[in-house]
Amino acid sequence: MLRTHTCGELRLCDVGKQVTLCGWVQRIRDKGGLIWIDLRDRYGITQLLVEEATAPPELLTTVRNLGREFVVQASGQVIERISKNNKLPTGDIEIRLQTLQILNAAKVPPFLIEDETDGGEELRMKYRYLDLRRSVVRQNLELRHRMAKATRDYLDSLGFLEVETPVLIKSTPEGARDFIVPSRLNPGQFYALPQSPQTFKQILMVAGFDRYFQIVKCFRDEDLRADRQPEFTQIDCEMSFVTQEDILQTFEGLIKHLFKTIKGIELGPFRRMTYAEAIQFYGSDKPDLRFDMRFVELNDVAKGKGFQVFDNADLVVGICAKGCADFSRKQLEELTEFVKRPQIGAKGLVYIQYKTDGSFKSSVDKFYAPNELMKWAVKMNAQPGDLMLILAGQTDSTRKQLSELRLEMGTRLGLRRKDLYQPLWVVDFPLLEWNPEEQRWFAMHHPFTSPKLEDIEKLDTDPGAVRANAYDMVINGVEVGGGSIRIHDQALQAKMFRLLGFTDQQAKEQFGFLMNAFEYGAPPHGGIAFGFDRLCALLGGADSIRDFIAFPKNTAGRDVMIDAPSPVSEEQLKELHIKIAD
Ligand code: AMO
Repeated sequence: MLRTHTCGELRLCDVGKQVTLCGWVQRIRDKGGLIWIDLRDRYGITQLLVEEATAPPELLTTVRNLGREFVVQASGQVIERISKNNKLPTGDIEIRLQTLQILNAAKVPPFLIEDETDGGEELRMKYRYLDLRRSVVRQNLELRHRMAKATRDYLDSLGFLEVETPVLIKSTPEGARDFIVPSRLNPGQFYALPQSPQTFKQILMVAGFDRYFQIVKCFRDEDLRADRQPEFTQIDCEMSFVTQEDILQTFEGLIKHLFKTIKGIELGPFRRMTYAEAIQFYGSDKPDLRFDMRFVELNDVAKGKGFQVFDNADLVVGICAKGCADFSRKQLEELTEFVKRPQIGAKGLVYIQYKTDGSFKSSVDKFYAPNELMKWAVKMNAQPGDLMLILAGQTDSTRKQLSELRLEMGTRLGLRRKDLYQPLWVVDFPLLEWNPEEQRWFAMHHPFTSPKLEDIEKLDTDPGAVRANAYDMVINGVEVGGGSIRIHDQALQAKMFRLLGFTDQQAKEQFGFLMNAFEYGAPPHGGIAFGFDRLCALLGGADSIRDFIAFPKNTAGRDVMIDAPSPVSEEQLKELHIKIAD
């Protein structure tokens, strides 16, 4: 080894030792007479000291030639520091340098490689290897490693087997677009990259594997957001001979294990909510339960008083913001502007300030006398000092708008704390959703999801009302995982395909392999997949999953470091039998 210790491990008890460290020069401070060098590696920073008066001349020459990010080998004696730095684990000691060897010079980096950097996002992505030297970024990947290890330990202890499934496959219909890969050996034919290993894990159940998992890359050609990457990682799991309850318990256990191991947090039993409740009371299938502000429907007290906006609305619904009655006119205007933004699309916002003296001040005083407003306050459980915010319109869109306003209020009031975790199972998702453009039903989760037994007869009469044995895990408003009990009966699966508008021929072409497998003894089975990057970001207290991926794509889906995607040669295209259209 070129070193005796790392840059993170020396302490007071090592004083007097002769050591050799290797690392990158983070900073050089020349105070005339004394020179300090901060030496950094993966494990930390150690301060090196050069005393001009006593240092050998060749050492001084080398030190004077150093630049930021040079790679060096430094030898010397550990001494106690006179002025200690309690922010660094190694801050009690420094190394009195005896020899220094430059192992490699470095160009001046384009941004500061420190916790607080001056580099913009795009620049740091281009020089990702420099960004990864920053301890904040490295710590995110260390957390990711520990998460993967804890996941494997937990699932292994329960008898799950990690099995790799192929990356060059056939399209799986799971909503997003596929990335496709041309086949040189099969002209005009393409593989697809898996959006998830869904069909393979079900086939593993037919094969008797019973408990499967895989920490696996998935690929989806969809628009990117802070919590979406075109290639991302799932903790993908499947079990045989289980009920939905068994799956919820097993994977609630996984998430509890991760929080305990990684954060030392004991999570209590997870709340559960049906999809219908989530939509009615939070306007979202992934409610953030770190704060309350449950929706209260006001149709019966708001309609019929001559206020057209409410009279013409399908739904009048509001939230109560505790202690916000003294919001200024400016704050209320900001909220109104917020809901009127095109992304949200509300026409306006009605507010009622329930003043601490018991009086009301509202934007609809003309239509509603105080005794009317009092009825609203009672319904909304509002107390003097509270602010009621109300939206009205078509049911679905109004709920979505109020959901955005609820989150905005939560943010403004500091209620969405990063150190608070509120996990939730959302259960009883609808099996199908109607797509007005294509005029057909789509599977809300995927076509292999089982309807609830008691709802099966509605498949023919009222498909939209059929509930599925499907569930999502939501933490702090983030969908971290989702899954379902699968159909294992071939006839029911065929019926599902027909409902989704597949002809028998199409179903056979796309899923013949799965339907065939089901003819050879498919056990009852079900599973779930977690968004691993999302879980890492959540436990790491960050919003963007990019910070937890070593080499992420930017918002345009590009890897700016390697410059991909990129054109390929005519020759390559020809081999692949591909012509680029003009
Ligand atoms: P689903 O499509 O719900 O289910 O995906 C499971 C979880 O993966 C995460 N996720 C993503 N994370 C980052 N970037 C993306 N583009 C992205 N897309 C999804 C989410 C999501 O909850 N095969 C089924 C699971 C099953 O039924 O067992 C599936 O893939 O956190």
